[in-house]
Amino acid sequence: MAANVDLSTNVAGVKLPNLFYNASGVMCQTEKELNQLIESDSGALITKSATFLPREGNPSPRYTALPNGIGSINSMGLPNEGYEYYLNFAKNYNYNNSKGKPLFISLSGLSVQDNVNMITAFNDADLPCILEVNFSCPNVPGKPQLGYDFEGMENALTVLAPLIKKPFGIKLPPYFDIAHFDIAANIFNKFENLAYVTCINSVGNGLAIDVETEQVLVKPKDGFGGLGGLMVLNTALANVNAFYRRLSPGKQVIGVGGVTSGKEAFMHVLAGASAVQIGTTLKEEGEGCFTRISKELSEIMASKGYKTLDDFRGKVKTP
Ligand code: SIN
Repeated sequence: MAANVDLSTNVAGVKLPNLFYNASGVMCQTEKELNQLIESDSGALITKSATFLPREGNPSPRYTALPNGIGSINSMGLPNEGYEYYLNFAKNYNYNNSKGKPLFISLSGLSVQDNVNMITAFNDADLPCILEVNFSCPNVPGKPQLGYDFEGMENALTVLAPLIKKPFGIKLPPYFDIAHFDIAANIFNKFENLAYVTCINSVGNGLAIDVETEQVLVKPKDGFGGLGGLMVLNTALANVNAFYRRLSPGKQVIGVGGVTSGKEAFMHVLAGASAVQIGTTLKEEGEGCFTRISKELSEIMASKGYKTLDDFRGKVKTP
């Protein structure tokens, strides 16, 4: 790690010893995996998106890396242990014994009422974890992504934000139109305790085909699945920067998408990210990627004379 470089950051008023953690969905379904994240060099951890009841998810094969390091496709369908499992994990989470890492809990109710019920249970437990509501899973048949239904998303936030009371985040799908960035940001700015948005979830409903077998590469939904990894980097950077420019002061953006090395992490922060999540690279390389990418980012920062993330966050230049 380069000397004199500080990778610490704050999200929703909570300190992270460094800016990197897992993208929800990778290495975070079971207690064993979550403990692996605690042991790793990540700066935080987030759980797999929980539904009210446990789910097995979609039939396999439902994830595969794509050739030449371009990324991955998944159609997991929210396999998870049910919210009570993650509530229990949060109750037992030992903040003194977890290298100072905050715990984020991802919730993905299949209805607003499911989210209300899960949030109520977390409120009753009164825990220091940070809640993140996932409005963007593209893989549950019959359940469109709420992030693409602006009216539905605003209605959901109108119910959920006052209920959560504390600072919280939401996970967004990628947007591809300037008008949509404007509409979405206007909605988010209405909710004071909406502290951050996580951009981006996978680019939904891509199709990967194997030339030799002439088959699609994942089984569910006739092969349609969410794209992640390097091929989504530029869409992720655009979403991070679009919301960084539009959100009210104090609101933050968490960047996710396309981080394979310190270079892409540097770009995410330059675009405005307060923290950076890693999905496909974590899945393919394992938790050692946090050590490697932290070192690479530190070296880039040192070579440019930056000591903290604040020195360059959001300062991407335009000609
Ligand atoms: C999945 O479980 O299908 C992925 C989760 C997500 O995209 O939010």
